[in-house]
Amino acid sequence: MPSKNVTIVGLQWGDEGKGKIVDALARTCRYVVRFCGGANAGHTVNIAGQKFAMHLIPCGVFNRGVMNVIGNGVVFDPAVALEEIDGLAKRGVGISAENLLVSSAAHVVMPWHKLQDSLSEKALGGGKIGTTARGIGPCYADKAYRSTAIRAGDLTDAARLPEKIARIAEIKNRIFTALYGAEPMDVPAIAEQYLQHGRRLAPMIGDTGALLRRALADGQRILFEGGQGTMLDIDHGTYPFVTSSSVSSCGVPAGAGVPPRAVGKVVGVIKAYTSRVGAGPFPTEQDNPIGEYLRQRGREYGTTTGRPRRCGWLDAFALRYAVELTGAEELALSLLDVLTGLEEIRVCTGYRRGGRAVESFDPAALEGVECLYETLPAWREDIGGCRRFEELPQAARDYVRRIEELVGRPVGLISVGADRDATILHRSSIEGLA
Ligand code: IMP
Repeated sequence: MPSKNVTIVGLQWGDEGKGKIVDALARTCRYVVRFCGGANAGHTVNIAGQKFAMHLIPCGVFNRGVMNVIGNGVVFDPAVALEEIDGLAKRGVGISAENLLVSSAAHVVMPWHKLQDSLSEKALGGGKIGTTARGIGPCYADKAYRSTAIRAGDLTDAARLPEKIARIAEIKNRIFTALYGAEPMDVPAIAEQYLQHGRRLAPMIGDTGALLRRALADGQRILFEGGQGTMLDIDHGTYPFVTSSSVSSCGVPAGAGVPPRAVGKVVGVIKAYTSRVGAGPFPTEQDNPIGEYLRQRGREYGTTTGRPRRCGWLDAFALRYAVELTGAEELALSLLDVLTGLEEIRVCTGYRRGGRAVESFDPAALEGVECLYETLPAWREDIGGCRRFEELPQAARDYVRRIEELVGRPVGLISVGADRDATILHRSSIEGLA
């Protein structure tokens, strides 16, 4: 029987508007699961004029009856999680073991990971990655290194945790003082703080893989919530200017502890243009008044760091690669309203290098490519109130159709504003959207 599960992934460099799509679909699901990344993510959900910026807690928490899961593939920052839980509680969204479970195998982001992220970026100077400084890379590095890692399950082991923290912190202190001339960390204070975090979080830490496999066997619907975007994937993105986990749909089985068939239908979320935050190649970037127009209208400033995002035209050549890799069956197109008022719209259909067409998209070979653009008419009408495809101006409809042709996938849903209802259901075949 085909799986009724759904996986939402970003097909660009993150910030595609996944939060809104997850929120829209969550009411039809029993589980919403994060499988990659950590508090570097910034998923925004707008409900009845209230804006929620989520970093670690899945976007299913706004729907009753949904169990939210932080999978083993996530790097879990207990300090951020508790801050987010407390912030949500103040706004009437209660989080408890009833609606949140964290994998005991998720690796814990410790203060030394955040410190190393900042120190290392500073030391790299002009060669830096431009990370979010959330300790993501150093935590995944320790996961792979093993002997200096701490997992969420360790937080609940009060008898052993202080000794473990002391041993690892001692190593880190030696490295940081020698390598960066940093002040040594206050180890007893860290141990005390993380023991406290463990006490509060203990009821919410458990075997999420077993839970999800049971749900799968029972035919309950699971939504996998991607973080970041395919071009930031550790293996398949614009390495080394990527994040440190498998953020495409390929990361779901390993990052959630489920078999590959659990992935279900994949929805690829794209913006009507492109943005990127941090360093690295970005062929369609418009470092000019057009990029500035997109940045202002799209409020393109990082949800996590507040950094201005780099903006540019849609890159259909890169998107074809991303849909092939992720297996996205349809697209969710967000922020179409941001393009309103432009003189014309451009979309990149391919690249040229040294006067010759580039045959296939290679994320590791983007330096020096020249974009081939197609120019389409734009529109001036405010489209924020459109709720049906037919209500969109002709030029907007033509742009959507051209994206479908160039990327080779139908656009299932179009978002024309931040609010839950500012959505046009178009050609989706996904249960809950169709
Ligand atoms: P890190 O994930 O903090 O190590 O950052 C590595 C790269 O990924 C940087 O270019 C970040 O700006 C980018 N990045 C990480 N998470 C996100 C996200 O959620 N949205 C957009 N960019 C991200």
